[in-house]
Amino acid sequence: MLNLGVWSLTGIVVGVLVVALLVLMIIGCVLSKREIPGIPPGPSFLPLVGNVIDMSWKYRTRKYKYFEKMEKKYGSVYRLYFGRQLLIFLNDMDSVKEAFVIKRYLYRQTHGEVLGGSPAFLIEASHGEGPLTPINMLPQLLYLPGARGKFKKLIAGAELTKTYISKRIVEHKKTWNKDKPRDLIDCGLAAIADADSQEFNNRILMYIFFDMFIAGSDTIANSMDWAFLHMIVNTDTQIKCQKEIDEVVGSERRVVWADKPNMPYCTATLMECLRYSNVAMTSLPHTATKDTMIKGFVIPKGSIILAGINSIHHDENLWEKPEQFKPERFIDGDGKIIHNEKDQRLI
Ligand code: HEM
Repeated sequence: MLNLGVWSLTGIVVGVLVVALLVLMIIGCVLSKREIPGIPPGPSFLPLVGNVIDMSWKYRTRKYKYFEKMEKKYGSVYRLYFGRQLLIFLNDMDSVKEAFVIKRYLYRQTHGEVLGGSPAFLIEASHGEGPLTPINMLPQLLYLPGARGKFKKLIAGAELTKTYISKRIVEHKKTWNKDKPRDLIDCGLAAIADADSQEFNNRILMYIFFDMFIAGSDTIANSMDWAFLHMIVNTDTQIKCQKEIDEVVGSERRVVWADKPNMPYCTATLMECLRYSNVAMTSLPHTATKDTMIKGFVIPKGSIILAGINSIHHDENLWEKPEQFKPERFIDGDGKIIHNEKDQRLI
């Protein structure tokens, strides 16, 4: 008969579990610490969790500070690990162009592809944290017991929006005339009618509008907040904008798109608001669909690539005194907006 002595059965079970966990951690440590040679440099990371603790916890409300620190230490192209997922940050214009313009096989996962229609994209937008939330990187977390409770309100909002859009599509169908498109939904219906396959259908159309609602709400609301703030702080700019509005539009009508070429100062001010404020700190995640090289670094298939919009918009090599709010930087000697196709510093 086995003599347990001071060890209770529970003690043995706990002991076995602890040992198993330790073994797993050592295996995880060895496996996850094996880095692919040639990938961009980056900070040391913990087994299994990678740099999540620093990124999502220590710098929770000021992730940009963490990214700034990493860029300073490792250069404009660096790597982090989100769990075992490799993230590559591109923080200079050359590498962003190489990745997104020259090497076109970096593709964007849509929320539909990631989650089969569940609202990670909404969570991403509403948190205003950009794509680097645990739920966005590992959407399967939503299926953990209790996880959805936290996002119940968001999920309900998403469902409400989807129902609203679907209703509007059905309404449009009733009076749809191919030759007289009234709006974007009508154009979408025409595209469905023209489509050879079933791939483009009402459901896809609904998701396109859903994306537009979600992607266009938080971004625009935050951009407006920043624009008002800049007008309050920079009263000289506010006065110049008002003067241009008074001269071009007057007070009897609203501004229309056709006024844009005649309003270079207001246009430049809006561009400067976008550059300065960066409501989107990084791009959305793009996935490398095959092994590639960017700026001489190895980028393995499956890596997630993010463009550091904040870094590029405040890069001293691209902008003179980037920390100054100066709409004039977008206006040339003839008082026109600088539109240099080769020089797209504003993302
Ligand atoms: C100032 C306002 C806005 C900012 C700063 C902004 C910024 C961005 C950024 C940085 C991306 C990621 C691009 C990428 O990683 O490839 C993005 C994607 C997107 N934006 Fe905007 N956006 C704004 C307004 C809007 C509006 C008004 C709409 C729609 C009505 C919209 C619809 C979208 C969509 C659908 C995507 C996803 C594209 C894709 O899946 O590749 N955005 N936006």
